[in-house]
Amino acid sequence: MDASRVNDYDSFAEAYTAESDAGIQNAYYERPAILALAGDVAGRRILDAGCGAGPLFAALRERGAIVTGIDASTGMLEEARRRLGDDADLRVADLGSPLPFPDDAFDDVIASLVLHYLEDWGPTLREMRRVLTPGGRLIVAVDHPFAIQLMNILAERKSRYLATYPWTEEWTMGGQTAHMSFWHRPVHAMTDAFTAAGFRISVISEPQPVPEARELDPEGFRMLSTNPSFLFFVLHAD
Ligand SMILES: C[S@@+](CC[C@H](N)C(=O)[O-])C[C@H]1O[C@@H](n2cnc3c(N)ncnc32)[C@H](O)[C@@H]1O
Repeated sequence: MDASRVNDYDSFAEAYTAESDAGIQNAYYERPAILALAGDVAGRRILDAGCGAGPLFAALRERGAIVTGIDASTGMLEEARRRLGDDADLRVADLGSPLPFPDDAFDDVIASLVLHYLEDWGPTLREMRRVLTPGGRLIVAVDHPFAIQLMNILAERKSRYLATYPWTEEWTMGGQTAHMSFWHRPVHAMTDAFTAAGFRISVISEPQPVPEARELDPEGFRMLSTNPSFLFFVLHAD
């Protein structure tokens, strides 16, 4: 398979956006949890790293934050532009490269469901630390490693929780099948990477989906309220 087609968000940007806007995982679990962890963001300069189609950008802006969004996918950024309008600060940038911002440019960086695409978190976290003002926060959501581990044990019949390893999955969206590739890493590898990059861990969270999801998607609600699919962190740049 053509390696450039792996994680090709451009190929399913519209379908992913529709799913993420309405589905329980994002609309009733990930985004409410990130927004609750962020708290009062009025007047804060926030970098939405891996902003996708910009649903968090929109919610943060509505709460008075001054938001900049970056993403590697031009297709996802087109969706974000449609949602957010011409004056939104949106840029193409790869989190595996130096960030196109000066030191101390932001009060918060939010990286929701993007770090698990990266093999090496070190350079990316150091860049996030650099663009944060002292005392600023990095707020993260990633695939929960126990959920990934369980899925991979069922698929491969072998257990290797403590390893950092790539795993793949096919997503079918809007009639397209996309090949997705992620990195599993154990919790200690995440916390070690955060502290090595100069962050202090303030919160590790395994939140519940919001109550409205119970009626919308009873099975999804039951699943998420008993087995978390994402793990959340609030980190401080001291
Ligand atoms: C699961 S979506 C999450 C989008 C958004 N953060 C949200 O919560 O709705 C992952 C996003 O990360 C982006 N992404 C993946 N790898 C990236 C990288 N190396 N640099 C920047 N963006 C990346 C994808 O293009 C996609 O838009």
